[in-house]
Order: sequence, then structure tokens, then C-alpha cells
Amino acid sequence: MHIFVEIGPLKAYLKHQLTSHFSIGLVPTMGALHNGHLSLIQTSKKENHITVCSIYVNPIQFNNAADLEKYPRTLEQDIRVLQDAGCDALFCPGNSEMYREATRLKFDFGSLDKVLEGEFRPGHFSGVALVVAKFFNIVQPDRAYFGQKDFQQFKVISTLVEELKFDIQLICAPIIREHDGLAMSSRNVRLNTDERTRAVVLSQSLRESRDRLLKGESFSAIKKFVMDKCIQSNVRLEYIALADRENFSLLDNVREPGRGIILIAAYVGEIRLIDNLFLTEN
Ligand code: PAF
Repeated sequence: MHIFVEIGPLKAYLKHQLTSHFSIGLVPTMGALHNGHLSLIQTSKKENHITVCSIYVNPIQFNNAADLEKYPRTLEQDIRVLQDAGCDALFCPGNSEMYREATRLKFDFGSLDKVLEGEFRPGHFSGVALVVAKFFNIVQPDRAYFGQKDFQQFKVISTLVEELKFDIQLICAPIIREHDGLAMSSRNVRLNTDERTRAVVLSQSLRESRDRLLKGESFSAIKKFVMDKCIQSNVRLEYIALADRENFSLLDNVREPGRGIILIAAYVGEIRLIDNLFLTEN
């Protein structure tokens, strides 16, 4: 696997691939790789000649300094994992390579970045959009792969691609879960044994909410049920919401199950976790 920390040599390598008319798949990550990331790498390998993974903990998408400081960084292990997975190239720049000076660029995605993650993490999606736009310009991939766990992020990036006319196909891959249903996340390694056990309340709440909704129960009653369930598990619920997955408008009831998504965010101890479920998913 080729490893690049600077943009120039990465571009030279990719230019060489392009002259061979090779297609390029990009998997942008913040490292601490798990099986969710690996499934994105595997899909990219199937669909492209060359797969590039980026590992960069992007400071400007963190609205909480402690979260940025404690975000797991496991580069050596990640390199071994990517090598074993047959990834062709890794781009792992430092901050000075990505932001020569403090950036003043800001993105506004209208109502999409004002709700849920956008509401609870002000500035987060602007920071995500800027770094992803940089990666798209540097790598110029044919396809880019993201996980459904960050579905609101996926919609933000889809809007970015549409608005800036990037000629890139975006792929949203299903959430990979632990045996008990917990969605895989880089932040899971920060959970202690007790927190890890309690964290299952997120995925359980989503599944039970979906079942109740489809039986016709109102979402306000379901919210109350999830709030109680989280209190019993000593988990601090930030939100549970039903949304239209096309435009992220918040809903009180289901009109078209095919467009519905339930989303949850909660603190288990100090660790903030998110998860979601399409209403039509098993
Ligand atoms: O989903 C992530 O890991 C990050 O938000 C991303 C897309 C790599 C941008 O930093």
C-alpha cells in the first residue's frame, strides 16, 4: 500500500493511475478503523481499479474540544488493517497540509443542517463539507463511500456534490452492527464494559420505535417510551426523531414508510453515540 502525507505526491500517483484509465474509489475516514470501514473498502475494491482511503481527524468538524482531543487515533493499527484489506493507497495528512491557515470558508445547507446533528453540533456539517470537498478535489474519485450511520452527513455530502457539480457517484453503505445490535463506530472503543452493555439501548430503541410506528402508534407516545427506556439504562438521550429521509423534515407520523428514518443520539457516560434505522429496514 502506498502511504502519502502530502498532497503533491498523492496527486502524482493518482495522475499515473488516470493515464491507465483506472477508476478511483475514495473512502474518507477519521481512522480507528472497524468492520464498518472495512466493508466500505471492500465495496470500493469491487467497484474500482484503485481504492484510496483517507485518515484525517478533521479539527474543524468538532464543536467540542474534549471530543476532538479524545477521538481515538490508531494509525499504526489502521495501516495494518488497510494493508490486509488490499487498499491501494492511504492519505493521512497533518493539519498543516489540509489547512495552511485558519479557514474562513463556511457552508450553509439550509434546513438540512439546522436539525438533529446540525442543531446539537453547530458548525459540524460545515466542517465536514469543507474537508470532504478538499478530499474530492485532491483525489478526484469516480466514486466515494460513506456509511449509513451518519445518514444526515450523507445527505449533506449529496447536496455538496449536487451544488458544486462534482462528477462523483456517492455510495451509502448499510450500517454494520455488533452481535447485540450496537452500530459499529470508532467511538465504541472508548466505552467501558458497563457502558458497552448499556449502549445497546440505542439500537433496541430504534427497532422498537419502528415496530410501534408501523402498528400505528403516535411518535409522541413513542418518544416518551424511548425517554423512559434511556433513563432506565442510565443513558442521556439527546434526541429521537422521525424524519423524511429525502429532505430531513421532521415528522409526527408515517405517511410513506419508504421515506421514513428514525434517528437517535445519546450519551453513554461521556461518549456520544448516534444510530438510525430506515422504517423499511429489518
Ligand atoms: O464520517 C466521517 O468519518 C467524517 O465525518 C468524514 C466524512 C471522514 C469527514 O471528516
